[in-house]
Amino acid sequence: MAQPRSIKVPPRWRKEVARVLITEAQLAQRVRTLAQEIERDFHGRETVVISLLNGTVMFLADLLRHLSLPLRLDFLGVSSYGEGVKAGELIFTKELRLDVRGRDVLLVDDILDTGQTLNRVLPKLRALKPRRIKICVLLDKPARRVEAIAADYAGFTVPDEFVVGYGLDFAERYRNLPFVGVLHPHIYKQACKRINRA
Ligand code: IMP
Ligand code: MG
Repeated sequence: MAQPRSIKVPPRWRKEVARVLITEAQLAQRVRTLAQEIERDFHGRETVVISLLNGTVMFLADLLRHLSLPLRLDFLGVSSYGEGVKAGELIFTKELRLDVRGRDVLLVDDILDTGQTLNRVLPKLRALKPRRIKICVLLDKPARRVEAIAADYAGFTVPDEFVVGYGLDFAERYRNLPFVGVLHPHIYKQACKRINRA
Protein backbone atom coordinates (compact mmCIF):
# COMPACT_ATOMS: atom_id res chain seq x y z
CA MET A 1 0.00 0.00 0.00
CA ALA A 2 1.66 3.21 -1.15
CA GLN A 3 1.81 5.96 1.46
CA PRO A 4 2.71 9.59 1.02
CA ARG A 5 6.26 10.12 2.31
CA SER A 6 5.09 12.87 4.64
CA ILE A 7 3.31 10.42 6.97
CA LYS A 8 5.92 9.81 9.62
CA VAL A 9 5.79 7.60 12.64
CA PRO A 10 5.14 9.86 15.66
CA PRO A 11 8.41 10.37 17.61
CA ARG A 12 7.03 8.47 20.61
CA TRP A 13 6.85 5.24 18.57
CA ARG A 14 9.79 5.66 16.22
CA LYS A 15 12.00 3.12 17.99
CA GLU A 16 9.38 0.40 17.79
CA VAL A 17 7.36 1.10 14.65
CA ALA A 18 9.20 1.04 11.33
CA ARG A 19 6.54 2.82 9.29
CA VAL A 20 2.91 3.85 9.15
CA LEU A 21 0.98 1.45 6.94
CA ILE A 22 -2.55 2.83 7.32
CA THR A 23 -3.23 6.30 8.65
CA GLU A 24 -5.96 7.33 11.05
CA ALA A 25 -7.78 9.12 8.23
CA GLN A 26 -7.61 6.09 5.93
CA LEU A 27 -8.94 3.87 8.71
CA ALA A 28 -11.83 6.21 9.40
CA GLN A 29 -12.75 6.45 5.72
CA ARG A 30 -12.57 2.71 5.03
CA VAL A 31 -14.47 1.70 8.16
CA ARG A 32 -17.31 3.96 7.02
CA THR A 33 -17.49 2.31 3.58
CA LEU A 34 -17.24 -1.18 5.11
CA ALA A 35 -20.25 -0.36 7.28
CA GLN A 36 -22.15 0.72 4.17
CA GLU A 37 -21.33 -2.59 2.43
CA ILE A 38 -22.54 -4.52 5.45
CA GLU A 39 -25.75 -2.52 5.77
CA ARG A 40 -26.58 -3.13 2.13
CA ASP A 41 -26.18 -6.91 2.57
CA PHE A 42 -27.98 -7.24 5.88
CA HIS A 43 -31.18 -5.51 4.69
CA GLY A 44 -32.13 -4.26 8.14
CA ARG A 45 -32.31 -7.79 9.55
CA GLU A 46 -31.91 -8.51 13.27
CA THR A 47 -28.19 -9.13 13.60
CA VAL A 48 -25.89 -10.48 16.26
CA VAL A 49 -22.44 -8.98 16.02
CA ILE A 50 -19.86 -11.31 17.52
CA SER A 51 -16.50 -9.74 18.07
CA LEU A 52 -13.32 -11.61 18.91
CA LEU A 53 -11.41 -10.18 21.86
CA ASN A 54 -9.14 -8.22 22.22
CA GLY A 55 -7.83 -7.01 18.88
CA THR A 56 -11.16 -5.73 17.57
CA VAL A 57 -11.76 -3.04 20.22
CA MET A 58 -11.07 0.05 18.13
CA PHE A 59 -12.28 -1.29 14.83
CA LEU A 60 -15.50 -2.56 16.39
CA ALA A 61 -16.25 0.70 18.17
CA ASP A 62 -15.81 2.66 14.95
CA LEU A 63 -17.69 0.16 12.79
CA LEU A 64 -20.67 -0.04 15.13
CA ARG A 65 -21.30 3.67 15.18
CA HIS A 66 -21.81 3.55 11.40
CA LEU A 67 -24.20 0.58 11.48
CA SER A 68 -27.87 1.41 11.90
CA LEU A 69 -28.99 -2.24 11.78
CA PRO A 70 -31.05 -3.57 14.70
CA LEU A 71 -28.17 -5.43 16.33
CA ARG A 72 -27.04 -6.99 19.55
CA LEU A 73 -23.39 -7.31 20.49
CA ASP A 74 -21.55 -10.21 22.03
CA PHE A 75 -17.91 -11.13 22.49
CA LEU A 76 -15.98 -14.32 22.15
CA GLY A 77 -12.64 -14.48 23.92
CA VAL A 78 -9.98 -16.33 22.00
CA SER A 79 -6.37 -16.53 22.86
CA SER A 80 -3.43 -18.52 21.66
CA TYR A 81 -1.06 -19.92 24.25
CA GLY A 82 1.95 -17.72 24.77
CA GLU A 83 2.59 -14.22 23.56
CA GLY A 84 3.79 -12.82 20.28
CA VAL A 85 3.83 -14.00 16.72
CA LYS A 86 3.62 -17.77 17.06
CA ALA A 87 0.17 -19.24 16.50
CA GLY A 88 -0.46 -21.89 19.14
CA GLU A 89 -3.38 -23.90 20.48
CA LEU A 90 -6.49 -21.79 20.74
CA ILE A 91 -8.23 -21.35 24.07
CA PHE A 92 -11.61 -19.72 24.63
CA THR A 93 -11.34 -17.14 27.40
CA LYS A 94 -14.93 -15.88 27.15
CA GLU A 95 -18.01 -17.68 25.87
CA LEU A 96 -21.04 -16.16 24.12
CA ARG A 97 -24.05 -15.00 26.16
CA LEU A 98 -26.58 -14.32 23.38
CA ASP A 99 -28.66 -16.87 21.54
CA VAL A 100 -27.79 -16.76 17.86
CA ARG A 101 -30.15 -19.48 16.63
CA GLY A 102 -31.85 -18.38 13.40
CA ARG A 103 -30.07 -15.02 13.47
CA ASP A 104 -27.80 -13.30 11.01
CA VAL A 105 -24.35 -13.20 12.56
CA LEU A 106 -21.60 -10.75 11.72
CA LEU A 107 -18.33 -12.15 13.00
CA VAL A 108 -15.73 -9.43 13.47
CA ASP A 109 -11.99 -9.97 13.81
CA ASP A 110 -8.95 -7.74 13.59
CA ILE A 111 -6.84 -9.62 11.04
CA LEU A 112 -7.17 -12.73 8.94
CA ASP A 113 -3.68 -14.19 8.87
CA THR A 114 -3.15 -17.96 8.67
CA GLY A 115 -6.90 -18.49 9.03
CA GLN A 116 -6.49 -20.90 11.94
CA THR A 117 -8.37 -18.77 14.46
CA LEU A 118 -11.48 -18.27 12.33
CA ASN A 119 -11.41 -21.88 11.22
CA ARG A 120 -11.67 -22.93 14.89
CA VAL A 121 -14.30 -20.34 15.74
CA LEU A 122 -16.61 -21.02 12.78
CA PRO A 123 -17.58 -24.64 13.64
CA LYS A 124 -18.33 -23.51 17.18
CA LEU A 125 -20.69 -20.82 15.87
CA ARG A 126 -22.26 -23.03 13.21
CA ALA A 127 -23.19 -25.52 15.92
CA LEU A 128 -25.42 -22.80 17.42
CA LYS A 129 -27.51 -22.79 14.21
CA PRO A 130 -27.47 -19.15 13.12
CA ARG A 131 -29.26 -18.35 9.84
CA ARG A 132 -25.97 -17.28 8.33
CA ILE A 133 -22.51 -16.08 9.35
CA LYS A 134 -20.66 -13.31 7.55
CA ILE A 135 -17.04 -12.58 8.35
CA CYS A 136 -15.71 -9.06 8.63
CA VAL A 137 -12.04 -8.31 9.26
CA LEU A 138 -10.18 -5.04 9.34
CA LEU A 139 -7.06 -6.52 7.74
CA ASP A 140 -6.41 -9.42 5.42
CA LYS A 141 -2.90 -10.85 5.08
CA PRO A 142 -3.39 -13.45 2.33
CA ALA A 143 0.33 -14.25 1.97
CA ARG A 144 0.29 -16.20 5.26
CA ARG A 145 -2.91 -18.19 4.76
CA VAL A 146 -2.57 -21.90 5.58
CA GLU A 147 -6.29 -22.69 5.80
CA ALA A 148 -8.84 -22.04 3.08
CA ILE A 149 -10.92 -19.19 4.39
CA ALA A 150 -11.96 -15.83 3.03
CA ALA A 151 -13.60 -12.82 4.65
CA ASP A 152 -16.87 -11.49 3.29
CA TYR A 153 -15.75 -7.97 4.19
CA ALA A 154 -12.12 -6.91 4.54
CA GLY A 155 -10.94 -3.37 5.18
CA PHE A 156 -7.42 -3.53 3.80
CA THR A 157 -5.10 -6.14 2.34
CA VAL A 158 -1.73 -5.95 4.06
CA PRO A 159 1.70 -7.32 3.10
CA ASP A 160 3.44 -10.13 4.97
CA GLU A 161 4.76 -8.00 7.82
CA PHE A 162 3.83 -7.89 11.49
CA VAL A 163 1.47 -4.98 12.04
CA VAL A 164 0.35 -3.28 15.24
CA GLY A 165 -1.98 -0.52 16.32
CA TYR A 166 -5.68 0.36 16.11
CA GLY A 167 -6.33 -2.60 18.42
CA LEU A 168 -3.70 -4.99 17.08
CA ASP A 169 -0.97 -5.99 19.49
CA PHE A 170 2.39 -7.52 19.82
CA ALA A 171 2.58 -9.30 23.21
CA GLU A 172 -0.41 -7.15 24.33
CA ARG A 173 1.34 -3.88 23.52
CA TYR A 174 0.72 -1.21 20.86
CA ARG A 175 -3.08 -1.61 20.78
CA ASN A 176 -3.38 2.10 21.57
CA LEU A 177 -1.70 3.42 18.41
CA PRO A 178 -4.35 5.34 16.42
CA PHE A 179 -2.81 4.10 13.13
CA VAL A 180 -1.70 0.70 11.81
CA GLY A 181 2.08 0.43 11.62
CA VAL A 182 4.72 -2.15 10.83
CA LEU A 183 6.54 -3.36 13.91
CA HIS A 184 10.33 -3.05 13.81
CA PRO A 185 11.64 -6.62 13.35
CA HIS A 186 14.15 -6.01 16.18
CA ILE A 187 11.21 -5.87 18.64
CA TYR A 188 10.02 -9.39 17.97
CA LYS A 189 13.53 -10.74 17.54
CA GLN A 190 14.26 -9.53 21.09
CA ALA A 191 11.05 -11.14 22.34
CA CYS A 192 11.86 -14.46 20.61
CA LYS A 193 15.28 -14.50 22.28
CA ARG A 194 13.65 -13.90 25.69
CA ILE A 195 11.14 -16.71 25.08
CA ASN A 196 13.87 -19.11 23.96
CA ARG A 197 15.92 -18.33 27.05
CA ALA A 198 12.95 -18.87 29.40
P1 IMP B 1 -4.70 -16.41 12.29
O1 IMP B 1 -5.31 -17.41 13.21
O2 IMP B 1 -3.30 -16.76 11.92
O3 IMP B 1 -5.55 -16.04 11.10
O4 IMP B 1 -4.45 -15.09 13.11
C1 IMP B 1 -5.44 -14.42 13.70
C2 IMP B 1 -4.93 -13.69 14.92
O5 IMP B 1 -3.51 -13.61 14.99
C3 IMP B 1 -5.41 -12.28 14.85
O6 IMP B 1 -6.71 -12.15 15.41
C4 IMP B 1 -4.36 -11.53 15.60
O7 IMP B 1 -4.67 -11.55 16.98
C5 IMP B 1 -3.10 -12.32 15.37
N1 IMP B 1 -2.26 -11.74 14.30
C6 IMP B 1 -1.96 -12.26 13.11
N2 IMP B 1 -1.17 -11.47 12.37
C7 IMP B 1 -0.96 -10.37 13.13
C8 IMP B 1 -0.22 -9.15 12.92
O8 IMP B 1 0.41 -8.87 11.89
N3 IMP B 1 -0.27 -8.27 13.95
C9 IMP B 1 -0.95 -8.49 15.11
N4 IMP B 1 -1.65 -9.61 15.34
C10 IMP B 1 -1.66 -10.54 14.35
MG1 MG C 1 -3.90 -10.67 18.83
